[in-house]
Amino acid sequence: MILKGQQRLIIVFIVYRITLGCCKDPNDEINADSCHPPSFSFNGTKTERGEARIRNEFSHVQEVKFSGSIGPLGEKRPCKIKCVEGQWVGPLCADQDDNGRFQPLFKNCKLEYINKHLLVTFKNITIHHAGIAFPHGLQLQVRCKELGLYKLLGTSNPRCHNGEWSTRLPSCVPTTLLTNFTEDAPPTILIKIPSGSASIEPAGDLAVFPGSTVHFECLYPRVLGNPDWTWTTPLGQYLTGWAIAPEEKSWKYRLSIYYAKAQDSGTFTCATPKGITNSITVHVVSVTCQPISVSGMHITVRVEGTRLGHKAIFQCPAGYVISGSPNLTCQASGKWSAAVPKCEPVKCPPLDILGALDEPHLQVEEHNNSYGGRAIFSCAWGYKLIGAPGVECEITGNWSRKLPKCVAIQCPPPVLPVNGHLIQSESPGMDGFRYAVGSLVQFACKGAHLLEGEASIICTETGIWSHPPPFCKPRCPYMGEPENGLAAPTKFAYEPGDELQVTCNPGFELKLDQERLKCLPDGTWDTYLPNCTSYDQI
Ligand SMILES: *[C@@H]1O[C@H](CO)[C@@H](O)[C@H](O)[C@H]1NC(C)=O
Ligand SMILES: *[C@@H]1O[C@H](CO)[C@@H](O)[C@H](O)[C@H]1NC(C)=O
Ligand SMILES: *[C@@H]1O[C@H](CO)[C@@H](O)[C@H](O)[C@H]1NC(C)=O
Ligand SMILES: *[C@@H]1O[C@H](CO)[C@@H](O)[C@H](O)[C@H]1NC(C)=O
Ligand SMILES: *[C@@H]1O[C@H](CO)[C@@H](O)[C@H](O)[C@H]1NC(C)=O
Ligand SMILES: *[C@@H]1O[C@H](CO)[C@@H](O)[C@H](O)[C@H]1NC(C)=O
Ligand SMILES: *[C@@H]1O[C@H](CO)[C@@H](O)[C@H](O)[C@H]1NC(C)=O
Repeated sequence: MILKGQQRLIIVFIVYRITLGCCKDPNDEINADSCHPPSFSFNGTKTERGEARIRNEFSHVQEVKFSGSIGPLGEKRPCKIKCVEGQWVGPLCADQDDNGRFQPLFKNCKLEYINKHLLVTFKNITIHHAGIAFPHGLQLQVRCKELGLYKLLGTSNPRCHNGEWSTRLPSCVPTTLLTNFTEDAPPTILIKIPSGSASIEPAGDLAVFPGSTVHFECLYPRVLGNPDWTWTTPLGQYLTGWAIAPEEKSWKYRLSIYYAKAQDSGTFTCATPKGITNSITVHVVSVTCQPISVSGMHITVRVEGTRLGHKAIFQCPAGYVISGSPNLTCQASGKWSAAVPKCEPVKCPPLDILGALDEPHLQVEEHNNSYGGRAIFSCAWGYKLIGAPGVECEITGNWSRKLPKCVAIQCPPPVLPVNGHLIQSESPGMDGFRYAVGSLVQFACKGAHLLEGEASIICTETGIWSHPPPFCKPRCPYMGEPENGLAAPTKFAYEPGDELQVTCNPGFELKLDQERLKCLPDGTWDTYLPNCTSYDQI
């Protein structure tokens, strides 16, 4: 079964849900009208199992009922497909608004893109984002945000019909004021309400409260000729002409409605000498809105009144932000242009949203993202904080500073002693040429040098080594005793300049006169250790 073009229809097709509708008699020979069995899905997966059996068992099914999940909100409705002349037809879904009759499903329309100059309204709710799907039959209301400054090109009421908008979304053409008064642009119309009130309605018309005065100023360079005002109100007579004030008289061609009455409802059009026009449609209606009641404790409101065109301007106290529209206008529908806004306490973005908690070594000691609250940080062992350890949540909803960072504490490479070297013990935290906290290094001296100081040092949390590196001092080694004699003094090592005196046991003597040995500055003896030999051998 192929449901062409019904993308939004999700069929919950669980086998036991299928009810057999009016079936032909299974013994009926004539089955030229039977349809292929519909393909079955179980819990969303199409099943091929038992295809042949299903084909047989269901070859006389003429109607399949199922529960459809329809529209962006997944509204559940009974649906069915029918076998008509060997083809499945449908789905048809029951419509509560139509006494439960099964009707073909219509597709939604999607609003792909909203030009920034357009204000799109649906059931008097402003649509801020494209991508929303609207049900079949729905009508949008579209106007240019700045009425009179842009001219709407196209229809202001596109309707959704089975997946297609009746017309493309209109566009907004800039007028003379925005084009430096080029002659090919439609004239700008400025709207002035010196007394009374008016509201710009979602479809771009001007709803005026009776008794108001309205000036329309058509902007056109007087040097290029006179524009022309026309109107569709059958009986109306309106004063038109160039403005009188010196700074306005060369570019503002005015039409005035004094003490507006119902009969002044109609379209007012300004045409340039080249015949390019811009219009404003006026409805004079006596409408009042419900008084505004603010329930929240925090919000304050200044209401001009409850007549059409009156505004209510909301404010929140320090430490709160307004959520919703801050200004409401009483509209021709008798409704305020939006719901009463709320005041929400200022909150700074939670730290996890800022990614602070992804930083593995940064620890949050305290976290209060309300206005006036603070967050305090510390670092894991072996890491140090760069930046301030605390941030405060400011009235703007921003944290007062950038969050701090944790960087590994490292010790510089240790100074190598002259004639010494490092025993390259594995230093776990060695990072490039620096050493992490806890790294241990060991020194050794070249032969004939003696290590003086600590042979191993450790990188501490302060980023400093536990001890200064040792020295390697040249030392002459202890050479043992000569044969048949003594060497004095006896030491483990001898400093350069030290002397060693060899004395022979009685009856022995040195071959040559070499009873003194001297330790040289490089840690070697000036000569080898002599042996004492017996007199008889000499
Ligand atoms: C249907 O599918 C969902 C998600 O794949 C699964 O969690 C659920 O257990 C399934 N139900 C049955 C009855 O198989
Ligand atoms: C209008 O004129 C001003 C100043 O001469 C210039 O900066 C601006 O770009 C012009 N705008 C247009 C739409 O031509
Ligand atoms: C709300 O009204 C105030 C005062 O009239 C105005 O300054 C402000 O720009 C308006 N804000 C919006 C969002 O319309
Ligand atoms: C929207 O406003 C129009 C007139 O501007 C009114 O007729 C209609 O009832 C309003 N719809 C809702 C849902 O308020
Ligand atoms: C957060 O900070 C605000 C302002 O200092 C304070 O009023 C509030 O009690 C704090 N919240 C918590 C949970 O500590
Ligand atoms: C607060 O943050 C927002 C968005 O991050 C930024 O646009 C705004 O300029 C910031 N305000 C201040 C006072 O820093
Ligand atoms: C001294 O005697 C020892 C042992 O016999 C020998 O190894 C050594 O070479 C002798 N030293 C000299 C200078 O002859």
